[in-house]
Amino acid sequence: MDVSAFFELHKDLPREGPGRPEDVAWALGVAGVKPGARVLDAGCGPGADIAPLLLATAPGGHVTAIETHAPFVERAARRWGRDSRVTLIQDDMAAAEGPFDVIWCAGALYFLGLRAGLEIMRGKLAPGGLLCFSELVFRVPQPPAPVREALEAEYPAIGTVGRLNGIIEAEGFEIAAQKMLPRASWEAYYGPLEQHIATLRAGADPALCAVLDAAEAEAALWRANNDTFGYALSVLRARP
Ligand SMILES: C[S@@+](CC[C@H](N)C(=O)[O-])C[C@H]1O[C@@H](n2cnc3c(N)ncnc32)[C@H](O)[C@@H]1O
Repeated sequence: MDVSAFFELHKDLPREGPGRPEDVAWALGVAGVKPGARVLDAGCGPGADIAPLLLATAPGGHVTAIETHAPFVERAARRWGRDSRVTLIQDDMAAAEGPFDVIWCAGALYFLGLRAGLEIMRGKLAPGGLLCFSELVFRVPQPPAPVREALEAEYPAIGTVGRLNGIIEAEGFEIAAQKMLPRASWEAYYGPLEQHIATLRAGADPALCAVLDAAEAEAALWRANNDTFGYALSVLRARP
């Protein structure tokens, strides 16, 4: 896929994966996160979750938001760059310097590899700290072949929630809470994406057309099959 065409589609989206402020509030609320918590937003994308993270940890919360892709960091900086409650860093999330009371990682931990990501983030948690992350999973043991093939092409290590939880526990965490992200969280991503596709269609060159077609196909796959795959949002505590 042409990288510049990919970012032409993605550069102005409010977020880069499924999620809503309500999901942040749920995760930090069920875990009883305290005001003033030190938060890491790992793989923050354009920064959509910074506001609800600050809200959930107010007063006194601080968010360190780290992201490798410069245009996403710049987008987050346009909104948060002058806010003393937020530190924006363009770097690998593995390099973030803790400790953190909360690590929030929406749809990004798998870039490190799930096992490695859990181990790396464990090392950045303050005692009693929480790791909250969303991860693409199959909701059924035997997903339809087109679903399995499409998702495995993007994420070969994808598995069921049961497999995810086995890895979580093997990496030394206990699950404080877990839920599947609801449809509204996916619409918060695919709605603006589909609007942007419609805007870019007119005048798109072949490289951009290929990117728009692929994004449309991805959204259509989810709409037709969201009973068979989704994002599990897990709230974890490291076992002592
Ligand atoms: C699916 S997007 C989710 C972005 C954001 N959390 C959101 O929900 O809008 C995953 C993000 O992780 C970033 N990313 C990938 N690997 C990373 C790494 N090693 N360190 C920091 N960010 C990374 C990508 O550039 C991308 O912005």
